[in-house]
Amino acid sequence: MTAESTRAELLDWDRRHHWHAFTQMAEYEPLVIARAEGCRLVDVDGREYLDGASSMWCNVHGHHHPRIDAAIRTQLDRVAHCTSLGMGCDTTVRLAKRLADLAPDNLEHVFFSSDGSSAVEVALKAAFQYWRQRENPRPEKTEFLALAEAYHGDTIGSASVGGIARFQGIFAPLLFDVVRAPLPDPRRLPAGTSAEQAARHFLDELEPILAAHHQELAAMVIEPQVQCAAGMVMHPPGYLRGVRELTRKYDVLLIADEIAVGMGRTGTMFACEGEDVVPDSLCLAKGFTGGYLPMSATVTRGQIYRAFLGRWSDGRTLYHGHTYGGNPLAAAAALATLEVFDEEQTLEKLPAKIAQLGEHLCRLATHPHVCQPRQRGLIVALELTPDKTTEAPYPADERRAWHVARETLAHGVWLRPLGDTLYVMPPLAITADELDQLMTTLSSAVETVTCKY
Ligand SMILES: Cc1ncc(COP(=O)(O)O)c(C=O)c1O
Repeated sequence: MTAESTRAELLDWDRRHHWHAFTQMAEYEPLVIARAEGCRLVDVDGREYLDGASSMWCNVHGHHHPRIDAAIRTQLDRVAHCTSLGMGCDTTVRLAKRLADLAPDNLEHVFFSSDGSSAVEVALKAAFQYWRQRENPRPEKTEFLALAEAYHGDTIGSASVGGIARFQGIFAPLLFDVVRAPLPDPRRLPAGTSAEQAARHFLDELEPILAAHHQELAAMVIEPQVQCAAGMVMHPPGYLRGVRELTRKYDVLLIADEIAVGMGRTGTMFACEGEDVVPDSLCLAKGFTGGYLPMSATVTRGQIYRAFLGRWSDGRTLYHGHTYGGNPLAAAAALATLEVFDEEQTLEKLPAKIAQLGEHLCRLATHPHVCQPRQRGLIVALELTPDKTTEAPYPADERRAWHVARETLAHGVWLRPLGDTLYVMPPLAITADELDQLMTTLSSAVETVTCKY
């Protein structure tokens, strides 16, 4: 078998046997990655691509990071897996302690799962059970409040609190009912409401919903600061803080889903910290292991945790668990990821990168077919329009953003737009030169696609 035939076979097998997530397989054009280094992915043909979407929002310190690689190898020599049901591994214990020390105030009990959806399921079930088991039980609090266009995962519970019709609409008969609040998208403010009034406007929409339903609400779940899957919808500053105040006022727990925005993405380790907010449960995944291995965490306050304590016969246990929850290899990767944050001063280096990305975005925003530029931390997003005065989108079937991504791919940058929304969300480790390359490639591709097609 020649190297060439192996490559051809791989592409063929990929198309025929690998059913890819969120991918229309009838149109799939294989892209098979053979290795990766830093912020670059290398395909089976040896072509390099800058990882402009952090391998779906999870890579933090770059691929093939020597420190994280070594931590996994060292752990492999000790134990690859042991259960967290009734026992645990020393590495996982150390990770739980480290996370409890790092998480804001009182968030000190860490439940490990293997993916983001499960971390949200755990938070939902724990909130539901909490109200039944706490000292003054309120068993009528069984419902959840979530935002329009929310995305919290693809399992039935996490999809129920999700609100993106394109993803979850077909499953509607399987999902439980949720109380829904309007999308706090500053681009959809009514005429006459200024950007400074945006948070107040959306909080004023939220409060009557809480007032009407709080007796039945167990928790509100929110993606702090940025609803990524909704199309990088960036909440107005102050909204999260106001949500925390309102949920406290109405005695509704707050679950912060930081699966996409945690781990430094918005400029602070946790997005909640940016608004000085302490949720009742914090969900982490994706970048939690640096983007290396599947592991998620639901970090919960003592007040909730204590409602689960009692004798075995009381039946107060959290009856939820996953075989690989707390996996030691993943725990080693997560611990090393946190250590690299300190060793490489990742957060301290972010402001310069955020500013550089912002400058590129400002330049791109002057393009006649670019509108709605927006940024939060190391995420920038924009829309394409045939008419900048109306900001109307191109016809959806033209798939302009998808064409832009194909164009950048041909020039060594991998992006994955969300419908018509183009965004850049690179690993936090990206260098200044790589940021320049990423954004200039994106600009040229926008120019090509808006002029050529
Ligand atoms: C905010 C948010 N929550 C939950 C999830 C689901 O995580 P996972 O794909 O690991 O199940 C995602 C995934 O993109 C997400 O962005």
